[in-house]
This record gives sequence, C-alpha cells and structure tokens, in this order.
Amino acid sequence: NMWNHPITVDNLKRLRDIAGYHVVAPGVGYLACRWVGAGRLAEPADIVGAAACLRTPQDLAGKRVVVSSGPTHEALDPARYLANRSSGKMGIAMAHAAHRRGAAVTLVLGPTGQPVPAGITVVAVESALQMAQAVEQAAASADVVVMAAAVADFRAATIAPQKLKRSSLGATPTLALRANPDILAGLGAARQKAKAQRPLLVGFAAETENVLAYARDKLVRKQIDVIVANDVSQADAGFAVDTNRVIVIDADHAVHVPFGTKAEVAHRVWDALLPRLNHAPVGKKANGAGAKPAKNARRKGKR
Ligand code: C5P
Repeated sequence: NMWNHPITVDNLKRLRDIAGYHVVAPGVGYLACRWVGAGRLAEPADIVGAAACLRTPQDLAGKRVVVSSGPTHEALDPARYLANRSSGKMGIAMAHAAHRRGAAVTLVLGPTGQPVPAGITVVAVESALQMAQAVEQAAASADVVVMAAAVADFRAATIAPQKLKRSSLGATPTLALRANPDILAGLGAARQKAKAQRPLLVGFAAETENVLAYARDKLVRKQIDVIVANDVSQADAGFAVDTNRVIVIDADHAVHVPFGTKAEVAHRVWDALLPRLNHAPVGKKANGAGAKPAKNARRKGKR
C-alpha cells in the first residue's frame, strides 16, 4: 500500500525526473503489514548489482542476448542420467556481464547449482532436446546467441520407464546411444537458409590441443561467426574453476584474453564481440545505417 500510494509514486517520480536518482525496485512478497505485494527491501545483491550497472558503460543497451550454459542431463531411467563436468559458471558470467552492460538477457540454463543474478530471464532445462527447443525459440528475436553450454552429444536411445535393475542387465551391460542435435550448427544452418546476418552466433570450444585450428574448423562446420576457445588441459582454466583464459576467434582474427576471473574474462569477451555486434561482418551487405534494406526485409523487428 505504501509503495503504491500516490504520494510515494509522485515523490519517486520527482526523484527520478528532477534529481536524476536511480531507484532499485522493491522485492515482492509477504510484507510486515501482512499484505502480499511490492514493498520488501530489495536483496543486497540486487542493490549492489544496480549500483554496478550505473558504473558500467551501457554498450549493450538495446541488444537482446541469449546465452546457454551448464551441462545437460540425459536420462537413462527415472534415477540415472548421463552428464558432464560443466559447472555453468562461464555462461552465467557471460549472461551477467551482458546484463551489467545493459542487454536484455535470456539464459537457457542446464542443471547446475549456481546462483543466477537478478534481472536475467532464466529458462531452466534438463536435456539437450529441451535446450534446443528453448534456445531456438529465444534465438528467433535475438541479436546474439552465445552457446556456452556443454551440450551432451549423445542421449540414451530409449529411456527406461522404471529404474534399471542390476540383475536384469547381465554381466557386460551395454548402453545404446543416439546423437543429439548440434544446436549451434542448427542455428547456423537456419540463418544461412534465411540468408540472414542475425543473430550473431558465438560458440564455446573446450579443447586440449590445436586450439586455434580446431576452433577455425568449427566456425566453418557450424556456419557461425565466433568461437571462444579455451584450453581445458590447464588446471586453472575451463571446467568448474572460477578462472579462465580464452581466445576469441573469428575467420580473420584471434584475440587472446589473458588469465582472469570468469567475470573479468566474460567482459573482455564482450569487448571483443562488440564490434561484430554493431557492424555487419566485412564483405557482407549491411542492413544498418546507410545501407539499402534487403528487398524482403520484414518491417517489424528488422533493424
Ligand atoms: O563441436 P563442439 O561440441 O566442440 O562445439 C562446441 C560448441 O557447440 C559449443 O558452443 C556448444 O554449446 C555447441 N554445441 C551445441 N550442440 C551440441 C554440441 C555442442 O550447440 N549438441
């Protein structure tokens, strides 16, 4: 009631309009006055986050960013699944950095216990097939898709409806697998088919050798724009740890991002992506300022 009272609303408007104050909206929930609604003290992390945004250049303002992160779990039966060692930390750091820089961020997140900062739209998924559906849906209106998820390449050919019994599996049990769709390659193929330039498609590649060569190969194979490659053979980079060092690779450049926290590395990766987000890649027709719009450009949503 107090938050929605016309005098409070008016005073806050004056603070914003006349004095240039920024307001962190209150949390919603059960209030001391026994009402349920907006009026709870905002979480300290949200207040810190809002203050940090004010101190961060808003160079991704107006951009719609989709990030995928975490592992996928591929069910074998109701109790068991196939998974990998991805913690989701790097993808969450990419989503967080983009949010800080003013982007509208959708995070398609596989199963991970990591907390996600407020202000990011989270779509929680479990399997690769669920992730594919969620990413494809979000990608339709995105300026950039960053696939940082460690998508399982295979799933069980059949998911047992009941928990598999040890006694029924024999002495040398075998597991029949089916390939999962390559989500990123699917986005690359769809964009190619539509002769579109957006969304910008960014992959992550964990390698243990020939990092540059394998990354460039992936760019071509998946028809994407950028690969962020990291050497996971090093103990302080890649899976599970809080630090990383990566190389941002496109067809003609390789930007080495030095060792740092995943948050620092995420900001440097966005620094490297920014020119590609603001301008069409060299050699391709731009739809931006000064360029003739494509004949079949849809009026709505084409920018
Ligand atoms: O080919 P590789 O798995 O090394 O490529 C890694 C990149 O491809 C990552 O960006 C990952 O998110 C994406 N990927 C995908 N779907 C898969 C496997 C990988 O989108 N099934």
